[in-house]
Amino acid sequence: MSTETILIMGANGQIGLELAENLRGIYGENNVISADIKDLKNPAGIYEQLDVMDKDRMYEVIKKYKVTQVYLLAALLSATAEQKPKSAWNLNMEGLFNVLDAAKDGIIKKVYWPSSIAVFGPTTPMENTPQYTVMEPNTIYGISKQAGERFCEYYHQKYGVDVRSIRYPGLIGYKSAPGGGTTDYAVHIYHEALKTGTYECFLSEHTALPMMYMPDAIRATIELMDAPAEKVKIRSSYNLGGISFDPSQIAAEIKKHIPDFTITYKPDFRQAIADSWPKSIEDTRAREDWGWNPKYDLASMTQDMLDNLK
Ligand code: SER
Repeated sequence: MSTETILIMGANGQIGLELAENLRGIYGENNVISADIKDLKNPAGIYEQLDVMDKDRMYEVIKKYKVTQVYLLAALLSATAEQKPKSAWNLNMEGLFNVLDAAKDGIIKKVYWPSSIAVFGPTTPMENTPQYTVMEPNTIYGISKQAGERFCEYYHQKYGVDVRSIRYPGLIGYKSAPGGGTTDYAVHIYHEALKTGTYECFLSEHTALPMMYMPDAIRATIELMDAPAEKVKIRSSYNLGGISFDPSQIAAEIKKHIPDFTITYKPDFRQAIADSWPKSIEDTRAREDWGWNPKYDLASMTQDMLDNLK
């Protein structure tokens, strides 16, 4: 029997849905609790309606199930956060404080919190961005992730909180839909390619960004959470490289499978967000510290995405 009980908050989101499925496979149906702000009629497993900003309710759920690990995935992403700066800041920070406090108060043992390539900004070196570098994010989302990283490290150093984090690149998967991000085009493009044979991209042709296929991202997350504490030397957040490509490159890859596929470009406000982020990420620390090794490239991801979406 598993000695861990896991609570996933923001479990209905792009990462949460896939992570919950994987964690249930590892820890068993009864040891993974999904929670989200929405009330679900037919949840896939044990489910609680929970607003991460409601600390009392969060503590109640943690105690009810004797939760040992929390994955906090509830957040507003980059594009949405630019539209609602105040509520994005409040949600992204308040939820994190409540979870870090639960660990500090000793009612949970381990915390996972996702950071993002959005912690970097226009003054950051854009190619092979290193773990430690200039970080001046200029989006609300990036500012909240940067501040969050500082708090994670602080809670670890001051209070010994076992918090672990990855700076996710754009995440691409077929099982769940992204929402409100700048990298979402790289998911939409596959759906539209199959459905209509054409896609209008909200980023320009040569906007390269770091991306990752969901199976790699989920595996990285679980491997980091499983690593012995002494191997997790970075308690702000780990760089993770993945695959770097621009819209023209993913379109060319899709054309190998769907020869008539066409793409047009109509950049909107998300272009400026993308322009402030790195084009590629250097991740030797994750490789050295806990053995990270990605499996998918653009070709194998595209093959798998199209096979599964068909
Ligand atoms: N994929 C996210 C976004 O585009 C970045 O973490 O907002």
